[in-house]
Amino acid sequence: MTGRGWRAGAGYRLLVSALRRQRRGLAWILLWSVLESVPPLLSGLLVSVAIDGFLAGDVAGALGALGLFLGAAVVGALATRQVFPWLARVVEAVRDSFVVATVTGALTDAVQSSGPSDTAGVARLTEHVQSVREVLFAVLRIVRQIAFTVVAALIGLCLLAPVVALGTALAVGLAMAVFLVRMPKLAATQKTVLLAEEKVARRAGAVFGGIRDVVACGGERQAAGDVGRAVNDHVRLSRRLAVATSSRMVVVFLGGQLPLLALLAAAPWLLVGEHLSVGELVGAVTYLTAGLEPALRRLLEVLATWGLEMGVSVARLGEGFAPGDGARPATGGVPAPGRMSLTAEALTFAYSPHAAPVCRDLGFRLAEGEHLAVVGPSGTGKSTLVSLLAGLLPPTRGRVLLGDTPLGDIADGELRRVIGLIPQEAYVFAGSLRENIGYLAPGAGAGEISAAASAVGLDELVARLGGLDVTLGPEGAELSHGEAQLVALARVYLSPARIVILDEATSALTPDEEATAEAAFTARGGTLVVVAHRISSAVRAGRVLLLDGDTAVIGTHDELVQLSSTYADLVGHWRHDAMSAAT
Ligand SMILES: Nc1ncnc2c1ncn2[C@@H]1O[C@H](COP(=O)(O)OP(=O)(O)OP(=O)(O)O)[C@@H](O)[C@H]1O
Ligand SMILES: [Mg+2]
Repeated sequence: MTGRGWRAGAGYRLLVSALRRQRRGLAWILLWSVLESVPPLLSGLLVSVAIDGFLAGDVAGALGALGLFLGAAVVGALATRQVFPWLARVVEAVRDSFVVATVTGALTDAVQSSGPSDTAGVARLTEHVQSVREVLFAVLRIVRQIAFTVVAALIGLCLLAPVVALGTALAVGLAMAVFLVRMPKLAATQKTVLLAEEKVARRAGAVFGGIRDVVACGGERQAAGDVGRAVNDHVRLSRRLAVATSSRMVVVFLGGQLPLLALLAAAPWLLVGEHLSVGELVGAVTYLTAGLEPALRRLLEVLATWGLEMGVSVARLGEGFAPGDGARPATGGVPAPGRMSLTAEALTFAYSPHAAPVCRDLGFRLAEGEHLAVVGPSGTGKSTLVSLLAGLLPPTRGRVLLGDTPLGDIADGELRRVIGLIPQEAYVFAGSLRENIGYLAPGAGAGEISAAASAVGLDELVARLGGLDVTLGPEGAELSHGEAQLVALARVYLSPARIVILDEATSALTPDEEATAEAAFTARGGTLVVVAHRISSAVRAGRVLLLDGDTAVIGTHDELVQLSSTYADLVGHWRHDAMSAAT
């Protein structure tokens, strides 16, 4: 979807603010982590005391050191046990924040867009939430423990043999620097893999969703080819990522194995020159082999796989949040009120490169506040055109301008605030009528919500249900089609949209109800575009746009009756329908 990229940072902002709210939990995790690091801190020191004690014949002292080592291990194990409940608390709270933001984003998209709601999109995003949860847990559990182990081993080494510690710290620093330099490229590759994975899901979802059409058109081979290409891309990129991440072995060598090799090579000199005792040498080797090297190896492994995955998932999730979650200022220039004309320039659109265009070279301008009816036989592209005007579909050629700004340059959230499109299939979600009506106007007071309900003609339904606070079931199952349409109309009526598009959004209302709803929108101000299915609706509009196959004609109702035989036929047809309905 256009304009989504800017929301990517929202994921990180949400992660940081969710973690900030968990300060107490994080403080407890820090405390227990320090105690958990007691064994790696003391291991080399106690091994050194034990060995030097045995060599000097002080068996009791040596055994005492080994006993202390055992005691330290017990303290470490108890601390590890304490850390887990705190980890769970922090991680679940962060997950809750992501779930709320993701579902709010999906709901906003559902009530503001035409066409079926993107349930596969919600599934993809909740998969990302799960991934963030698992990886955050792994990072806090493993990365935290390893990082503390590395620091504890370096401190222990410093107390035991400062020269060895200095060389080792330099090597570890160099290794981490190399890793951080490579990190952005790894993250970029990881992101291409995730996008490729989503593409597979999207392609497969589209094919499975339309499998009957695919079979009916004999398009099985092409559909399989499409999905197959997406799968192959995913495999190729995953291989590339595997090669890139395996290069971390160099980093492990630099930080973990090189100091050990250097220490062993210098051992004869260190021992003969009495710079180190045998016990201290073995203690230093203990820190390097049992503490540092495995910890570093694990740390890099986790950062290079889960860490990257979490980073990319968090960014991807941010793209699905509701406008406003990211708190990013609008980049697209939404014109000031009074300058919100809507202009189609050479507007052309085809659903695929090989399909015949549904719209071809359409050009017209709607001044702000105009009322336009779009009419035409079924399948001539009325819904497609209004989706283009709302910026829900990108033109194949040409453009749509809001004021002087092409819709494609306006941030998605801003565009959705300014242009409201109600499709024929009204979307009502589980919740109260009040929540449904107020969804696009979060600051609206009780009085404004009631006024919007009355204006579009919802009073009767509110009375029947027993008030605005009665909870509706999933997708408003207890409402008739017409009632659901009235709820969607009230929602957009109350929204800040300056351009309202009704795509047969009043099709299930009686002519009188339709007249009330349209009159409400006219009185509300702003531009009104109505895909009309009744003569009364076309006559009420200031101008009428007739789509008829390859041609499009725009003019007043009276002009079109004179100019277009198709329009005259359509009017005759509508009059006949209206008379039949009346008798
Ligand atoms: N998602 C799609 N993919 C491919 N073709 C499509 C898609 N949606 C619509 N079409 C085709 O584009 C053409 C225009 O469809 P559109 O729904 O815009 O017409 P319409 O005038 O709104 O029709 P109706 O009066 O039945 O609502 C039709 O031929 C339709 O089959
Ligand atoms: Mg339509």
